Amino acid sequence: MSLSFPPTFGTPLSPGAIRVMLLGSGELGKEVIIALQRLGVEVIAVDRYADAPGHQVAHRHYAIDMTDGAALRALIEREKPHLVVPEIEAIATPMLLELEREGAATIIPTARAAWLTMNREGIRRLAAEELGLATSPYRFASTLAELRAAIDGGSGHPPIGYPCVVKPVMSSSGKGQSKIDGPDEVAAAWDYAATGGRVDAGRVIVEGFIRFDYEITLLTVRARDADGTVRTHFCEPIGHVQVAGDYVESWQPQPMSAAALAASREMAHKVTESLGGCGLFGVELFVAGDQVWFSEVSPRPHDTGMVTMATQHQSEFELHARAILGLPVDVSLRSPGASAVIYGGMQARGVVFDGVADALTVPQSDLRLFGKPEAFAKRRMGVALARADEIGTARERAKLAASRVKPRAA
Ligand SMILES: Nc1ncnc2c1ncn2[C@@H]1O[C@H](COP(=O)(O)OP(=O)(O)OP(=O)(O)O)[C@@H](O)[C@H]1O
Ligand SMILES: [Mg+2]
Repeated sequence: MSLSFPPTFGTPLSPGAIRVMLLGSGELGKEVIIALQRLGVEVIAVDRYADAPGHQVAHRHYAIDMTDGAALRALIEREKPHLVVPEIEAIATPMLLELEREGAATIIPTARAAWLTMNREGIRRLAAEELGLATSPYRFASTLAELRAAIDGGSGHPPIGYPCVVKPVMSSSGKGQSKIDGPDEVAAAWDYAATGGRVDAGRVIVEGFIRFDYEITLLTVRARDADGTVRTHFCEPIGHVQVAGDYVESWQPQPMSAAALAASREMAHKVTESLGGCGLFGVELFVAGDQVWFSEVSPRPHDTGMVTMATQHQSEFELHARAILGLPVDVSLRSPGASAVIYGGMQARGVVFDGVADALTVPQSDLRLFGKPEAFAKRRMGVALARADEIGTARERAKLAASRVKPRAA
């Protein structure tokens, strides 16, 4: 199935409907689904567990193992969506390649983009070796001995040296990732990566540590103009703070020098053009002065981009929905703003949240509670948003609102 351009919109649950399937239905997928629902699109939400946030706002929902290629194919053949929209990395992407090749499904933005970005090796080699983007120095290793050799150098390779960062090639949200400062920490980093990775536990990337001034997500949208030509649009840069590889706070716009912004846009343009298709991408970059390093890219809305629900005329979720449907986009900023994450703080099912009314007394604040059926200490359960005339105040407001929301066991 595919969509015509310009698209004809139908009525959900009738033969003329545009049908979109989300693979992954967490807090980001939920917002994409709401944006699609507003345009009268029929939405099928898929996740690995029941009652995922996006399941709760879709026309139909399924809980399947999305790393199981046969299960994925069976569901796509049954539902026949016009578009298949991956929201997470942990999907049987070789099956998406196969379905796309057969013409059985249109994958957003492309099956190759989903496949390349689920593995750090795929996207890093594309960015650094094919596209020539500046990145941290890196090597890959499949054994502890190879990891040591990569860090120490030898057989024609310069050393990565210390400090460096070890990450499983397949992981997200900082899982299995550690910074190491000396040789006695290498074995522990290897073991940690082996337990924290997904699917393939045996391969890691080791990267030289970049001493950046700040890091950004540059939301980049590939969308069709009125005449059908795909054009690249850039949102204002988003600054963020990561703790243990997981985002805790973000704001927009991040002030940047003109040179750093131009370099960032050029990198984002190159990598998104190479990945192709239509949709929104989250391009992660490190910046020191006018120097920029490419880190990684998500071919989908980005967690740090939740701030755009407060700051932009069209949030990253609305932009993604519009771009994939072949509609025009507006990436302009409405107001500076910030977001702050609300964690579960404990392991419990069906948590309740105290302090919501109190949190919303913070000026120009807003809140999203994702509706996840189970909380963990470090699971993201909600996010506070705030606007202000300048970023400092917006960050204070978002953090204050987030701190007032208190999950507890029911
Ligand atoms: N080479 C590096 N030098 C300095 N800091 C780094 C490096 N690699 C990663 N980091 C820090 O760790 C964070 C997480 O790294 P990365 O984005 O590669 O992991 P991730 O698991 O994909 O995270 P997410 O899925 O949340 O984006 C980065 O945003 C950055 O703050
Ligand atoms: Mg990242």
